[in-house]
Amino acid sequence: MSVKTVFQTISGERAQREYEELLGSAFGVPQGTSFFDDFPVWDERHGADIYRAGAYDGGRLVAAASCRIARLAVAKGSVSVAVIGGVVTHASHRGRGLASEAVNIAIEHAASQGAVLALLWGSEHSMYRKLGFELCGVQSRVPIKQIKDRLVSHAFSGMKTGTGWQDAVFKCMRGREGGFIIENKDKKWLSAHKNVHWWWIGDNLEVRAYAAVGRGIDLGGMIHEWGGDKEALMLLLARLQETGPMLEILGSPALFEKYGFNPAGSVREHLCMARVVDAGALARAGGVDPAGAAPDARWFFGAPDARAARMPLWVWGLDAA
Ligand SMILES: CC(C)(COP(=O)(O)OP(=O)(O)OC[C@H]1O[C@@H](n2cnc3c(N)ncnc32)[C@H](O)[C@@H]1OP(=O)(O)O)[C@@H](O)C(=O)NCCC(=O)NCCS
Repeated sequence: MSVKTVFQTISGERAQREYEELLGSAFGVPQGTSFFDDFPVWDERHGADIYRAGAYDGGRLVAAASCRIARLAVAKGSVSVAVIGGVVTHASHRGRGLASEAVNIAIEHAASQGAVLALLWGSEHSMYRKLGFELCGVQSRVPIKQIKDRLVSHAFSGMKTGTGWQDAVFKCMRGREGGFIIENKDKKWLSAHKNVHWWWIGDNLEVRAYAAVGRGIDLGGMIHEWGGDKEALMLLLARLQETGPMLEILGSPALFEKYGFNPAGSVREHLCMARVVDAGALARAGGVDPAGAAPDARWFFGAPDARAARMPLWVWGLDAA
């Protein structure tokens, strides 16, 4: 690591712009758009409970990692979790341990705020393994044309289908099962997604079901957030199927089971990477005997191909920052 490199919090308009530029160039974000269009949670104007660690070389931001502290629903209530994202190093400074250091600083910060677990979504598995993360948890995915026969419903056929974000969607989302607990403070960053296509059924005052498609950089062609009244949801998905027959729906194995979305051809894949920060606290909250708890994410959540885990783990698409 360069002797000149110092780590400090990324905060303020100028630092925010520098971070946006660094993310934009590293992720190949098209001219005129911003990384924060797809990940507003890391934008200090929208994100709630976020912390952004930056590595500065001669006053220039050269690497960074962000985290947000969220509450994840588990057996005995909820636990505080560090969600890591916005990890980046300028091409000129890669391979010096800067991203690793920034991620560790972000986790230390989250631990000081009570986080017992850290989660992230990234394809650099070997880098994150060195930082103590393991692939774990399971998500299911299936093309909606394969569940077409589940989607026939006329119960709410008189109801209006609408598109675009609105407060009533947020209200409905808060009733979703599992995953991170959505709080009022999350409305700002959830509503700031520029490339998520929201669909809903109901009216402006009461949304009966909702579904969100795509995000921009990732989650293309995926229905990654959905919920609400089961009958209304089936009708909404049937309408979505008419507009995009190639769409796939993503969800937890338990939810898929509940909705009968498990036809042959559904894919089970790993959910995320996890690192246990406080094994005892995590075990207690998860209703698992803390006596033998190992500080190992797979001990808690199982390998991606495991049929059962001590603690089922689920998070949703947009929360997976
Ligand atoms: C991925 C990225 C953040 C790594 O930054 P970095 O500062 O070079 O990473 P580090 O030096 O801390 O790497 C630590 C270890 O991970 C390995 N590693 C680095 N980049 C890697 C990658 N893309 N894939 C797999 N392993 C990687 C390194 O070899 C190093 O291992 P070593 O200590 O045995 O040499 C950087 O390449 C980047 O900004 N890429 C573009 C943006 C991106 O993809 N961000 C991640 C999104 S989750």
